Amino acid sequence: MTPRKIALVTGANKGIGREIARQLGLKEYTVWLGCRDAERGDKAAAELRTEGIDARALRLDVTSDASVKEAAATFAKSGDSLDALVNNAGVAIGGYAAPSEASIDDMRALYEVNAFGPVRVTQAFLPFLKKSGQGRIVMMSSSLGSIAQQLDMSSPTYGVNLLGYNSSKSALNMITVAFAKELAAHGIKVNAANPGYVGTDLNDHQGYRTVGEGAEIAVRLATLGPMGPTAGFFHDGHADDLGKHPW
Ligand SMILES: NC(=O)c1ccc[n+]([C@@H]2O[C@H](COP(=O)([O-])OP(=O)(O)OC[C@H]3O[C@@H](n4cnc5c(N)ncnc54)[C@H](OP(=O)(O)O)[C@@H]3O)[C@@H](O)[C@H]2O)c1
Repeated sequence: MTPRKIALVTGANKGIGREIARQLGLKEYTVWLGCRDAERGDKAAAELRTEGIDARALRLDVTSDASVKEAAATFAKSGDSLDALVNNAGVAIGGYAAPSEASIDDMRALYEVNAFGPVRVTQAFLPFLKKSGQGRIVMMSSSLGSIAQQLDMSSPTYGVNLLGYNSSKSALNMITVAFAKELAAHGIKVNAANPGYVGTDLNDHQGYRTVGEGAEIAVRLATLGPMGPTAGFFHDGHADDLGKHPW
């Protein structure tokens, strides 16, 4: 019998992250739900278990060294290796202030979660990903982090000129490439995903895509086979093809 694969999804108590965990769980992965609030994490894990999914809540605040270290220590006790890490946790704060008016405190808070968080979690869980021999890391980026699209006047996101959020996701894209280059030698593939505009708490449910649609690309990247790409930025493609997203 093939052993079950193991995944960790951050920010998995709601929104796209919870759905990524659900879809991976339905693919027979054991899913650890990295959640900063223990109660919300336990509730989400219990709900997924009613669908027959092996879901476990893991207390994890991506902005805290101590919390991430403790989460890695808890995970280590399971003796498992980690086949997929989805760095999904993210925030969008600061409203629509023009760049000249944007608060640096808001920007710092955005970077803590959206850019430094994935670095912190990836570094802490790398030993388990290396142990897997076929680790997959997905960085939940955004089309708003695409510099190419921000410069393209025909892009639907051209006018969404958010200094903090957009640049935190551009930074995450470069972080993706940097890890991908280092980790290729360990059989680890690292890619960035754009879920599209999904109706969640992040945007007061303004997004027109469902969480099911938004989760799909991250799930595909988390479950890539040995011939799959690394150091890429992707959104939904055709059934057997990944859609390349411009950087
Ligand atoms: N929705 C979209 O249209 C869209 C588009 C492009 C990219 N994205 C990206 O997709 C990801 C998921 O977004 P979403 O739309 O599903 O948003 P969401 O519903 O607001 O969920 C965000 C998740 O991140 C968690 N989180 C926030 N700060 C955290 C921290 N310090 N430590 C651990 N977890 C933390 C939240 O936990 P709490 O419940 O405790 O706050 C929540 O579980 C984000 O990275 C976002 O930038 C979303």
